[in-house]
Amino acid sequence: MANRKYIVGNWKMNGLHAQLTDIADIAAIAANQKGADVGICPPVTLIAAAAEANPDFAIGAQDCHSSESGAHTGCLSTAMLKEAGASYSILGHSERRADQQESDADVKAKAESVHAAGLGAIICVGETEEERDAGQAIDIVTVQLARSFPAGASADWLTIAYEPVWAIGTGRVPETSDVAEMHAAIRAKLAELMGQGSDAVRILYGGSMNGNNAEELLAVPNVDGGLVGGASLTAAKFGPIIEAAAT
Ligand code: PGA
Repeated sequence: MANRKYIVGNWKMNGLHAQLTDIADIAAIAANQKGADVGICPPVTLIAAAAEANPDFAIGAQDCHSSESGAHTGCLSTAMLKEAGASYSILGHSERRADQQESDADVKAKAESVHAAGLGAIICVGETEEERDAGQAIDIVTVQLARSFPAGASADWLTIAYEPVWAIGTGRVPETSDVAEMHAAIRAKLAELMGQGSDAVRILYGGSMNGNNAEELLAVPNVDGGLVGGASLTAAKFGPIIEAAAT
């Protein structure tokens, strides 16, 4: 049976308090489209206000620290994010893997800490263009997945996002046959890593998803939703993606 679709907006380093109206507009669309699960991960400065203003809408974080507390200047614990109103966090986004040198081991520790706090996790994996050109995409991504994979994983709190690095923010998307091949490989790796229950773990596609290509991408086998950057910033752009997922 196909999994219920899950569409998550990753606002990255975008959004001031003035943009809370966009989150309210998106939450209103999501409330009317009952066929899909929808969430937004705004910058951390907006989590509390967004969660308070939209109590039935899933607000998430974009990262967290793996420790409960301590001397980690500038970092945020899962308890802090939860108290602010986040119910899940994106982890291991390629921008963090590249800019903050996050390793697979870091991502695994963060996911375990998120789970211990009772939050959900969206673990990101994806190959660079050089790796794809060299024919290594599937190996790179499945090894990344295995090394980032948390103990105690189950579909009720864990989601995977496949995001080819070269497709993020570029307007380029892979051929649907390549997406299908990768998502099938991730599905097989999940079965190997966790056995029973792996079919229910949702695998999102991310990288230049928009209102024009969402329907086609979401129809690919094993694509259970989308992680959306640029096209999640306004209701006008995000709405059509939510609708494509819900119908
Ligand atoms: P994009 O970003 O939709 O702007 O390509 C996706 C992501 O990085 O999660």
